[in-house]
Amino acid sequence: MNLVLLGPPGAGKGTQAKRLQDLRSLVQLSTGDMLRAAVAAGTELGRQAGELMEQGQLVPDALVIGLIAESMDEGKGGAGFILDGFPRTIGQAEALNTLLQSRGEKVDRVVVIEVDDDALVARITGRFTCATCGEGYHELFKLPKVEGVCDVCGGTKFSRRADDTEEVVRERLKAYHAQTEPLIGYYKAQDKVSAVDGMADIETVQKEIDQALDGA
Ligand code: AP5
Ligand code: MG
Ligand code: ZN
Repeated sequence: MNLVLLGPPGAGKGTQAKRLQDLRSLVQLSTGDMLRAAVAAGTELGRQAGELMEQGQLVPDALVIGLIAESMDEGKGGAGFILDGFPRTIGQAEALNTLLQSRGEKVDRVVVIEVDDDALVARITGRFTCATCGEGYHELFKLPKVEGVCDVCGGTKFSRRADDTEEVVRERLKAYHAQTEPLIGYYKAQDKVSAVDGMADIETVQKEIDQALDGA
């Protein structure tokens, strides 16, 4: 099963993708994570993408489509993919169809995680991750059990994303409403959309997604 997780910045796409990956043996493909890895590695692609990401704007379609095509070629995703943060434009959605078709597959379900804009700003500006294993935390909603120590790996260094300031989050939200939200109608026309209430707690959202997939 190939699943697209659609939703605004901070909706919980990454959080839920990680859980689904473990539950359903699917492979998470996050273009945001791939782009941040390219920025950290200092590649030419990373340099081009990094400037746009810091401004909260989308990077060009060709760039992210190339990244997704490469990851799919690596032979991963036996049971299917969870697409987290891709597609984000109609052009990307069409490229995804073509890529999946060449594997004899398709997008099976699109889960839209719905959250109010104001809640998103609070979520994103409070977010931090373990610098060692990448586990995600939040100042208000999900602190490590022992202060300053990662629950998963015991690491003591944490990091924050360069684009997680309030100003940039507002730009990311604008880009979402203008360029990505139209995908909901695009996939509704194919009868593939399940909407879940992303304002509920993480466990409840996970259960709702699970039900949407079982009913698919
Ligand atoms: P990307 O990395 O995809 O960021 P995003 O879409 O802005 O979304 P986030 O990763 O910030 O949020 P999320 O939905 O994953 O939420 P999370 O689970 O972390 O993209 C970054 C940039 O890269 C883009 O701006 C663009 O420049 C570029 N880019 C990426 N893909 C692209 C593409 N396809 N095309 C063009 N450009 C692209 O949760 C957020 C926080 O809330 C966490 O702290 C979490 O613990 C907490 N939380 C989660 N769920 C809940 C809940 N139910 N209740 C309370 N707290 C919760
Ligand atoms: Mg994410
Ligand atoms: Zn850790």
